[in-house]
Amino acid sequence: MSVSRRGFLQGRVLPFSGAFIAARGMEADQAAQGQERARSLVPPGVTGIRISSNENPLGPGKAVLDAILGKFPEANRYPFNSTPNESALTAAIAAKFKIKADNIVLGGGSQELLKNAVRAFTSPTRGLVTGSPSFENCPGVAKKLGHPIAEIKVDSAFRLDLAAMIAAARGAGLVFFNNPNNPTATVHGSKTVTDFVTRIRQASPETVILIDEAYHDYVTDPSYQSAVPLALATPNVFVTRTFSKAYGMAGMRVGYAIGRAETMKPLEKLKMPYNVSVFGVAAAIAALGDQKHIDAERERNTRVRAFTLKALGEAGCKSADSQGNFLFVDVGRPAKEFRDACAKQGVVIGRDFPPFEKTHVRISIGTMEEMEKATAVFRNVLRPISTSTGAQMEERSWR
Ligand SMILES: Cc1ncc(COP(=O)(O)O)c(C=O)c1O
Repeated sequence: MSVSRRGFLQGRVLPFSGAFIAARGMEADQAAQGQERARSLVPPGVTGIRISSNENPLGPGKAVLDAILGKFPEANRYPFNSTPNESALTAAIAAKFKIKADNIVLGGGSQELLKNAVRAFTSPTRGLVTGSPSFENCPGVAKKLGHPIAEIKVDSAFRLDLAAMIAAARGAGLVFFNNPNNPTATVHGSKTVTDFVTRIRQASPETVILIDEAYHDYVTDPSYQSAVPLALATPNVFVTRTFSKAYGMAGMRVGYAIGRAETMKPLEKLKMPYNVSVFGVAAAIAALGDQKHIDAERERNTRVRAFTLKALGEAGCKSADSQGNFLFVDVGRPAKEFRDACAKQGVVIGRDFPPFEKTHVRISIGTMEEMEKATAVFRNVLRPISTSTGAQMEERSWR
């Protein structure tokens, strides 16, 4: 069918306190609620520009849409009985990376793999090390399980502080290393990543290192390379990837983990049966066969990202170096204040990211048209009150 295109508890002093962990653990829930509130602030009759969740604004290509639509007659089948079936997706990923099926675990989105990694590799005595701010999924699960969490603040350039994470990793169960890092969008080069892994393994060989490459396809920094070869060569290291970002398939819920077979076993045990649907399987296989679509999406994002960075810079706002489809921007005021003001003008941006919620916001990159409108709204919101008449005129001009 065709469709038209539309030093953990080993006598060390830990860098976390109970109160801090409790507050941080609730953050994801509060953030989600905050986002709902922001959405409801979009005035009636205004179609909101949703640049809040780091989604690909254009979605998947025609090959993927055709694959999804073509699977409706097989909605009655389990994914092991469909054509193609889930093993075919594993085989397609294996072919892409020239690896074996037992190096791969599929996830219902990569978040399933992140959650299961915390379940598999942390405990009340072997905690989690993560960045702050970084993606909240792993600390959210560790908090619910009552496992210790060391949250290491990013450095002055908003990059994950790898030296401090290495120091905290001794005796840890799991290190979550998000590269590029959500929400700061910064990346570490491949040599630095290799050194990071080597040093943790020298000091703490039992510690598992999860390298989350959700935004891999958006990176333009030439020093960056995927850590997949490193994971395949190194015990206790694995990489997660997702189809939710550059592939434009967040609603399909497909992700995967890659590592040595023995590292993958605990994740395989915790995996939900048939966690990727018949539609997700077909869509992901089609997406892997359409590299041109990903290359075009990277090129598009790079262009719109540069436009948005420039517009925000001209409005006096500095951003961290972005290697993703989002920017972490100093707006010099509480994120909530800025977010609510933008929502009133139809633009929905990201949630709070402590410890920078008093100064920084995360803005995802939409289409060029969306970002032209959104940056006009940002200018209005950032503008001193005395020029509000002009601001209202600019706002009206795009509705
Ligand atoms: C760093 C990072 N990892 C994983 C995910 C989750 O992706 P998925 O949709 O595959 O569960 C996200 C989503 O925003 C993310 O930012």
